[in-house]
Amino acid sequence: MSAAVKRNIFRSPLAIHFIGIALLIGSRLAVIVIDRQTSHSGLQVLALGQDFAGDINKSLGPLGLLIMVATGVAMSFLRYGRRPPIWVRIKVGLNLFAFLGVALLGAPAFARVQLWAHWSADHNQLAPQFQPAAAQADLYSVIVFALLLVNIPVAVWKPFLSAKSPKLHPPTPTTAQG
Ligand code: HEM
Repeated sequence: MSAAVKRNIFRSPLAIHFIGIALLIGSRLAVIVIDRQTSHSGLQVLALGQDFAGDINKSLGPLGLLIMVATGVAMSFLRYGRRPPIWVRIKVGLNLFAFLGVALLGAPAFARVQLWAHWSADHNQLAPQFQPAAAQADLYSVIVFALLLVNIPVAVWKPFLSAKSPKLHPPTPTTAQG
């Protein structure tokens, strides 16, 4: 297969990888906006806002992550085969930590926030547990989001990359010129 064909095959998963980043960042921003807009407008609106945020957290966020992981793993196999460089392994590690953080801490914390928002709407008073639960969920999502964002500098600067750039290391001429 020619180098040009290979390069173009490689570009398609990279383009989809970027759509995954857009979904991931977009869904996080949407949740922040919903939180801001609904947290001071009455208890019914608060509960509704938490439902919207919960739906986004369960659908768009994981979809973005799934797209990133699937296209990332595909690109890694296409380009590096079964022995990916250290920077790809760092990315896999970051994503594993982020995934564990979401599954073990984030998702249960969000479920608690939703539960207390609905309790508040049903009892017409803000549950004392709501604010601490919301603060905890916020902290977990900041940590997970930061872990995911670290993937960007790792992918762009590729730490510990052993391959030499042809531009920085031009081949030494073997025959005398002129
Ligand atoms: C298991 C998960 C992931 C794997 C295996 C993976 C792997 C890869 C690979 C192989 C590339 C191609 C880089 C190249 O050789 O030019 C890439 C590009 C990139 N990845 Fe990922 N990735 C993952 C998740 C993520 C996440 C979660 C983000 C950001 C939130 C991200 C951000 C980027 C960016 C910005 C590029 C473009 C780098 C460039 O073109 O210079 N990746 N990734």
